[in-house]
Amino acid sequence: MIDLTVKIAGVTLGNPVMPASGCFEILPEQERVLDPAILGAIVNKTIFLKARAGNPPPRIRETPGGMLNSIGIPGEGVEAFIEHKLGALSALGPPLIISIAGNSVEEFCRIARIIEDTGKAELLELNLSCPNLNDGLHWAARKETLFEVVSAVTEAVSLPVAAKLSPAVTDIVEMAATARKAGAAALSLVNTFKGLVIDIEKKRPLLGNITGGLSGPAIRPLALYCVYEVYRSVDIPIIGMGGIASWRDAVEFMLAGATAVAVGMYNFVNPLVMAEVVEGIDRYLAANSFSSVKEIIGLAHRI
Ligand code: FUM
Repeated sequence: MIDLTVKIAGVTLGNPVMPASGCFEILPEQERVLDPAILGAIVNKTIFLKARAGNPPPRIRETPGGMLNSIGIPGEGVEAFIEHKLGALSALGPPLIISIAGNSVEEFCRIARIIEDTGKAELLELNLSCPNLNDGLHWAARKETLFEVVSAVTEAVSLPVAAKLSPAVTDIVEMAATARKAGAAALSLVNTFKGLVIDIEKKRPLLGNITGGLSGPAIRPLALYCVYEVYRSVDIPIIGMGGIASWRDAVEFMLAGATAVAVGMYNFVNPLVMAEVVEGIDRYLAANSFSSVKEIIGLAHRI
């Protein structure tokens, strides 16, 4: 028996595999392709305090090796989320990582407290890096705003906090270190890269919101590099993400230093991918004579 458990900020996950926020819908039981109970954690689509409509269509475009999205985080608001969804998510079994965002520092703190009071979340993921909102990216774009929001939330709640950072910065290590200094207990690396597609017939940007966030295998080496660099100098666990499409990709992220991995865009290509990643990691560990998945975290640094 190989030990697949990992620990993120004191939370034990049965295995290191989870969905990236917004990339996995929990369907009614009879419609499920993948059993959510096999996941290391469940992550919701980011919620705001109030209901939001999201961005105008078109919202998605397939690109070479990836997907450009400008969804704009539509949602029902935190109270309706708690009333309609949280109970069902919590009943699935794996620990819940609740992704939240706010329009102000005060709003981040308010949502964090509301979620903490439900007693159902194990970890809060602060979405500080959505490139599709007017103000979505700026939290993680400057050290000052990043420090302000992360320290305010970590002071407001006792739940551990993971900061989801943007790759669109000059120095990702500096931003990761800032989040850690502000009290983050984990890092989610990385959110999407801002990109553009132009409709040459209409001669205008194709997406309703003009730009979008690029995800999928096209960004994998870029995301992997961020994880590798941050692991070297920031000593809090990393949830690695960015183009993971197979167990091999997940193993790469863990060797680079990720304690856990999140699968995003590829869930839309292969709804079974997360189960395949869990099984593949297990087979890889057995074939390489490891008894615990923890043994491979950061192993690529020991050269
Ligand atoms: O537009 C979106 O809903 C994407 C969110 C994100 O990248 O965090």
